[in-house]
Amino acid sequence: MKRRLCLALPLLASFLAQGAEPIKIGFLVKQAEEPWFQDEWRFAEAAAQDKGFTLVKIAVPSPEKTLAAIDNLAAQQAAGFVICAPDVKLGTAIQRAAARNHLKFMSVDDRLLDGRGQPIAAIPHMGISAYEIGKQVGQGLVDEIKARGWKMNEVGALRIAYDQLPTARERTQGAVDVLTAAGLAADHVIAAPQARTDTESAFNAANIAFTKNARFKHWVAFGLNDEAVLGAVRAGEGRGLGSGALVGIGIGGSKAALSEFAKPAVTGFHGTVLISPKRHGYETAVLVYEWARSNTPPPALTLTSGALMTRGNQAEVRARMGL
Ligand code: GLA
Repeated sequence: MKRRLCLALPLLASFLAQGAEPIKIGFLVKQAEEPWFQDEWRFAEAAAQDKGFTLVKIAVPSPEKTLAAIDNLAAQQAAGFVICAPDVKLGTAIQRAAARNHLKFMSVDDRLLDGRGQPIAAIPHMGISAYEIGKQVGQGLVDEIKARGWKMNEVGALRIAYDQLPTARERTQGAVDVLTAAGLAADHVIAAPQARTDTESAFNAANIAFTKNARFKHWVAFGLNDEAVLGAVRAGEGRGLGSGALVGIGIGGSKAALSEFAKPAVTGFHGTVLISPKRHGYETAVLVYEWARSNTPPPALTLTSGALMTRGNQAEVRARMGL
């Protein structure tokens, strides 16, 4: 009898644990006002509904807010979190805060770095295949240059730059490599550094670059995301560089891009490489939940792909990506 009771106790404990509060998972994003991150949250919510866990969404625009949010999650008895941090250099600090609070976590979108600027391999990560996606942007731009019959020596390539973020640097490098391989001179690539990764900062950066480089007849524009390219497109419009003179291709494909495609008149925002907020939001939330529930850690590194989307093929491309 005694022996049977001993055997039954662990079972009872796990039964009680299952009947208790649902597992709680945080989802921390650097720029909650950006449609991409709203989509990620929306899909993470869907995951929570499907799997029966609780999702806690927290905006972390600064390092202080990030570390406070982690302590706060622990105080709420969360089991873990997914994070896109406001600065990838916070890697070690985030790792320490999570360990101190016994929280499991993975990063999404922006891979965290250690003190030497190297990616922290021990933190599971899901990001986009940045360089490849950048090459898709570059190819889309080259195709448009050809379709319009523009001469390469009359084209300036505006690179809205945010080089302190590795995924941003890799994305724009992919585009630059394809453009130069197609015959664009390296000194026709104009870097316009943006202070933040939003449309307004890109607009300001683009304006400075256009002022300094009035010699080009045509422009192509690219950057880290749709917001970067929209900033460039708006700055171009302000200087008479409309859709006939400037072609931009972004990365993202969420509301910002779709509302641009919905405008009655075609703008310089020619297209975007659609990436998957569903994979980044839904899958990462489930991965951390499963980690908490059954102690199965997420894969160390997952890189997702994208597809070029324009006004013409948007419905078909979105359907293909399950959106
Ligand atoms: C970065 C960018 C976002 C979005 C994601 C996609 O975090 O800042 O706009 O492009 O990558 O992974």
